[in-house]
Amino acid sequence: MSEKKAKAKIKKNEELEISVRDPNKKAIIHAKELHHYYYSQSGETHALRDIDLCIYPGEFLSIVGPSGCGKTTLVSLISGLLEVQQGTIEYNCEDKTNPRDFCAYMLQKDELFEWRTVRKNILLPLEIKRMKTPENVKYAMDLAVKYGLGDFLDKKPRELSGGMRQRVALIRTIASHPKVLLLDEPFSALDFQTRMEVQQDVLNIIKNERMTAVLITHDVDEAVCMADVVAIMTKRPATIKEFLKTNHEENTTLIQRREKVKLSEWHSRIFEQKD
Ligand SMILES: Nc1ncnc2c1ncn2[C@@H]1O[C@H](COP(=O)(O)OP(=O)(O)OP(=O)(O)O)[C@@H](O)[C@H]1O
Ligand SMILES: [Mg+2]
Repeated sequence: MSEKKAKAKIKKNEELEISVRDPNKKAIIHAKELHHYYYSQSGETHALRDIDLCIYPGEFLSIVGPSGCGKTTLVSLISGLLEVQQGTIEYNCEDKTNPRDFCAYMLQKDELFEWRTVRKNILLPLEIKRMKTPENVKYAMDLAVKYGLGDFLDKKPRELSGGMRQRVALIRTIASHPKVLLLDEPFSALDFQTRMEVQQDVLNIIKNERMTAVLITHDVDEAVCMADVVAIMTKRPATIKEFLKTNHEENTTLIQRREKVKLSEWHSRIFEQKD
């Protein structure tokens, strides 16, 4: 690349605004100096190195990074599915102390049970967590109706489209009032059009229900358009290279955001990460 072109590229990328993570501002989740290793017969894998991550209440953060760098490891640590080996994770929530109650985790596969109706799938976490009170059942059913599942509550998952199944999975995930929603590539199995619709539904639900959300995705457009802040991870052993603000106007749809954001700048900023 010529010097002139390189300078132009740097200048262009400076337009993206850094999101300052102030450790003195009250975070809902604060991971400090996290490292994570996997051990197997073939040796040690150093997955995460020196991760510092503040997530503020009500924020929608997306995380992008090369395949295999440790994104799933990071959210598994946050959710409490994996035990912290080195470093700390602080959770700031008045009434919930266990990360498993505090955070809800939605995966790529919807993991709906085929022998249970949509209604019974949605209510399952409330049963498991012994939270099946009339108020919580009403909250879950109201959500189902509000987001277009009212006519499908007595159907089996196989009778639903892929997008509707994801919606059921999402409502099931949030029925127990988690404070933080962790989403690990939840849209990657959907076709383009369904994906756009479900992304918008999920964004509406997160904003309307005032949840804090962390989205892991390989799709840069999705990461940028859905989130308030994008965290860029390096290759393994991964750390977070930088946090960038998306500066979307409030109450804009994903289509409006897609038209407004300079996606090519985001692509070059994210893919220029070398270390
Ligand atoms: N249970 C495990 N045992 C051993 N190594 C593992 C285990 N889980 C993950 N790893 C390794 O740790 C590294 C990080 O894995 P992780 O799944 O967190 O990456 P990722 O960024 O989510 O990848 P992808 O983008 O492909 O989903 C990879 O090298 C992976 O092979
Ligand atoms: Mg992963």
